Amino acid sequence: MLTYEQNRLITDVSVGTALNKYWKKFWIPVLRSAALEVDGAPKKVEILCEKYVAFRGNNGKVGFLYEACPHRGVSLAMGRNENNRLTCIFHGWSFDADGHCTHMPTEKDQSFCSKVKGQGFPVKEAGGIVWVYLGDGEPPKFNDYAFTLLDDQHVRPRASYNEANWLQNVETLLDSAHINLLHSNTTDNKGIPQYGLQLTAGNNTPKYTFEPRPYGLRSYSLRNNPDVELDNLRVTEYVAPGTAFIGTTDEEAGFVIIVVPVNNTRSLQWYIYWDERQPINNNLPDFALMATDESDDNFAASRQGTPMYGQDRQAMKEGKSWSGIPGVIFEDYAVAESIPVVDRTREFLGSGDLAIVRMRRVLMERIKLAAEDKECVFAEESDYRSLRALADMITKDTDIKQHTYAKEDARRIALYPESNEQKTIV
Ligand code: FES
Ligand SMILES: [Fe+2]
Repeated sequence: MLTYEQNRLITDVSVGTALNKYWKKFWIPVLRSAALEVDGAPKKVEILCEKYVAFRGNNGKVGFLYEACPHRGVSLAMGRNENNRLTCIFHGWSFDADGHCTHMPTEKDQSFCSKVKGQGFPVKEAGGIVWVYLGDGEPPKFNDYAFTLLDDQHVRPRASYNEANWLQNVETLLDSAHINLLHSNTTDNKGIPQYGLQLTAGNNTPKYTFEPRPYGLRSYSLRNNPDVELDNLRVTEYVAPGTAFIGTTDEEAGFVIIVVPVNNTRSLQWYIYWDERQPINNNLPDFALMATDESDDNFAASRQGTPMYGQDRQAMKEGKSWSGIPGVIFEDYAVAESIPVVDRTREFLGSGDLAIVRMRRVLMERIKLAAEDKECVFAEESDYRSLRALADMITKDTDIKQHTYAKEDARRIALYPESNEQKTIV
């Protein structure tokens, strides 16, 4: 249970809040690279309660600017995209990809251009995604996750929107206890492999263990099952504020979800799959596409506005579906969207919610650090490249931390032989 003020602190991303300031300390994934065509129509993007526009010039460079023209506030999404400039159709002011004003047909003195500042933001493209830095000053070290180093054959970013406060989406990702209930249509279906999810079957009361990490939190959830000899271990890596690496087995592709607040009741949620060993489309989990739209720019578009995500009461009654909602992803969306901003002053958290309690604690501490202009990202201390979660079956006497460190080290050495040393804290 939180106080009203604590709930506001971690949910309200309005401009001027400490949370907004905190989020702006990070590189944020905003669009698929493929969504921006050279000299094509600019795209509107809303992030953290503010409106932006993205465009790609004929030199391939992406510009990310405030949507409103700094002259008289007309939308630059209507602008002309040519000669590596975005030109406002109202009075023809032009801006380059860095947001510098380069021409003002309505002014005799072109030196006035240099007075127009702060229109553009730093951009990076990696992993098939456009990332932007919306904060003040120098951006932090880029989160060079494994998938950001791969070509587009090996990584598939899928974006979508849902109508929920960002924190609800993140909490769902950290919540190991719901897997075998909300997603029981999948965990009970042995006919389809589902990224380690089925390994959770038979136990809804995981035992949590946590380790603080510079990037956020490592959460171990251990399930024993009287019917099988081995225990199920899931390790989730939480990278504050909105990223969670979700457990997969060694044979499966890597998988990360990134939640980005659009505004207080809307989120952009990325599902990113990658595989260094083979083209990713050969190793996608069934749920990646199940019930989703084809478009990777918003695979939830046709679901939006459907009451209760089209929950099928008949299927629920007939025992064909627990949730009545098709697919793991939309089951998660449906619960997150069911109340746009949860009132956490009225919740009762149990032992199944410990990961959420710990995650909120990390978040509150770091939002306060951001508010005081103190270090709160810790990018320099974080080795993002070898971050990957885990789903595994282990013998009952296994030390779960040592087991996970060993896997992490083996992965780092296999992928990045130059870092041929054991770096994990033991
Ligand atoms: S409003 Fe954009 S140039 Fe005047
Ligand atoms: Fe879920």
